[in-house]
Amino acid sequence: MPTLFQRLRSLRHAIDFRLSERLRRRRGIHREVPARQLPPLDEAAAESVARLRGLYGEEFADRHCARTALGCYEYLDILHRGFDAAGLRAPRGGVLSDVGSANFWYARVLEVFFAPAELLGVEVEGYRRYTDGHSRLDYACGYLEGLPHARFLIADYTELDLPADLISAWFPFINGEALLAWRLPLSLLRPQALFRRVRHNLRPGGLFVMINHGESEACGARELCSAAGLRLRHQGVVRSPLANHRTREPILSIWD
Ligand SMILES: C[S@@+](CC[C@H](N)C(=O)[O-])C[C@H]1O[C@@H](n2cnc3c(N)ncnc32)[C@H](O)[C@@H]1O
Repeated sequence: MPTLFQRLRSLRHAIDFRLSERLRRRRGIHREVPARQLPPLDEAAAESVARLRGLYGEEFADRHCARTALGCYEYLDILHRGFDAAGLRAPRGGVLSDVGSANFWYARVLEVFFAPAELLGVEVEGYRRYTDGHSRLDYACGYLEGLPHARFLIADYTELDLPADLISAWFPFINGEALLAWRLPLSLLRPQALFRRVRHNLRPGGLFVMINHGESEACGARELCSAAGLRLRHQGVVRSPLANHRTREPILSIWD
C-alpha cells in the first residue's frame, strides 16, 4: 500500500507524463559528439573493454559520448558474460523487441550482440524532455542513425501485439519505489501484465532476456515470469568490473 507521500509523488508524475504525451514537444534529432576515447579505467575494467573490442570489433566511443560508450560496454559485457555462464550462444537474426528502452541509448549493443533483422525499442514515455529541451524520441533518433532496420516506438508494451523471436528487458520495474524514482506514476506498475504480454508476443522457439537489479528484484521478477507461463532456462549474477558502479549486482535471466 503506497504511503500518502508516495501517492502525491505519483500524482505529480502522472501530470508530467500526461502533459508530455499531449504536447509531444521535440527539439530535433539529437546526435552525441563522439568521445573517440574512453576516460581512464581501472585495470579490470580496461581489460574487459579490450576483450569486448577484440571479440565484437565495436568502438562505441566512435559514435557516442564517453558516458554512453562506457554504458554500452557495460551492457555488452553483461550479455556476453550472462550467455557464457548459461552455456548458450546468442541467437542472431529475427525480430528483437526491447521493452522499456528509455531513449534506447544501448540500441547498438543489441545490434552487435544479436544482429537482429529487425530491432524495435518500445518506451511508454518517449516524449519525456531532458534539460537540454530534447525529448527521448530526439535522442533515440540519433542513436538509431545508421541502423535502418531499427525503430523506436512510443507505446505501452502491455497493449502491443508484437510477435518477436527475442525480447529483452533491462531493469523492468518490479516495485513502486523504483518507478517513483524514475518519475513515473504508480499506475504504470504492472509487471504481471508486462510479463504476460512478453509471453504472448514471444514466438515459439524464442527467448526472453531480462536483467534485474540484485537478488530480491530478480526473485520477484522470477515469480512473475513463471506465473505468466515463461520457463526459466538460466539465471545468474553477472560480475562485470564495468558494473561496479551499481549498488546491486545485475542478474541476467533467460526464458522461453
Ligand atoms: C528502469 S527503466 C530502464 C530503461 C532502460 N531499459 C535502460 O536500461 O536504461 C524502465 C523503463 O521502462 C519504461 N516502461 C515502464 N512501463 C512500460 C510499459 N508498459 N511499456 C513500455 N515501457 C515501459 C519506463 O518508462 C522506463 O523508461
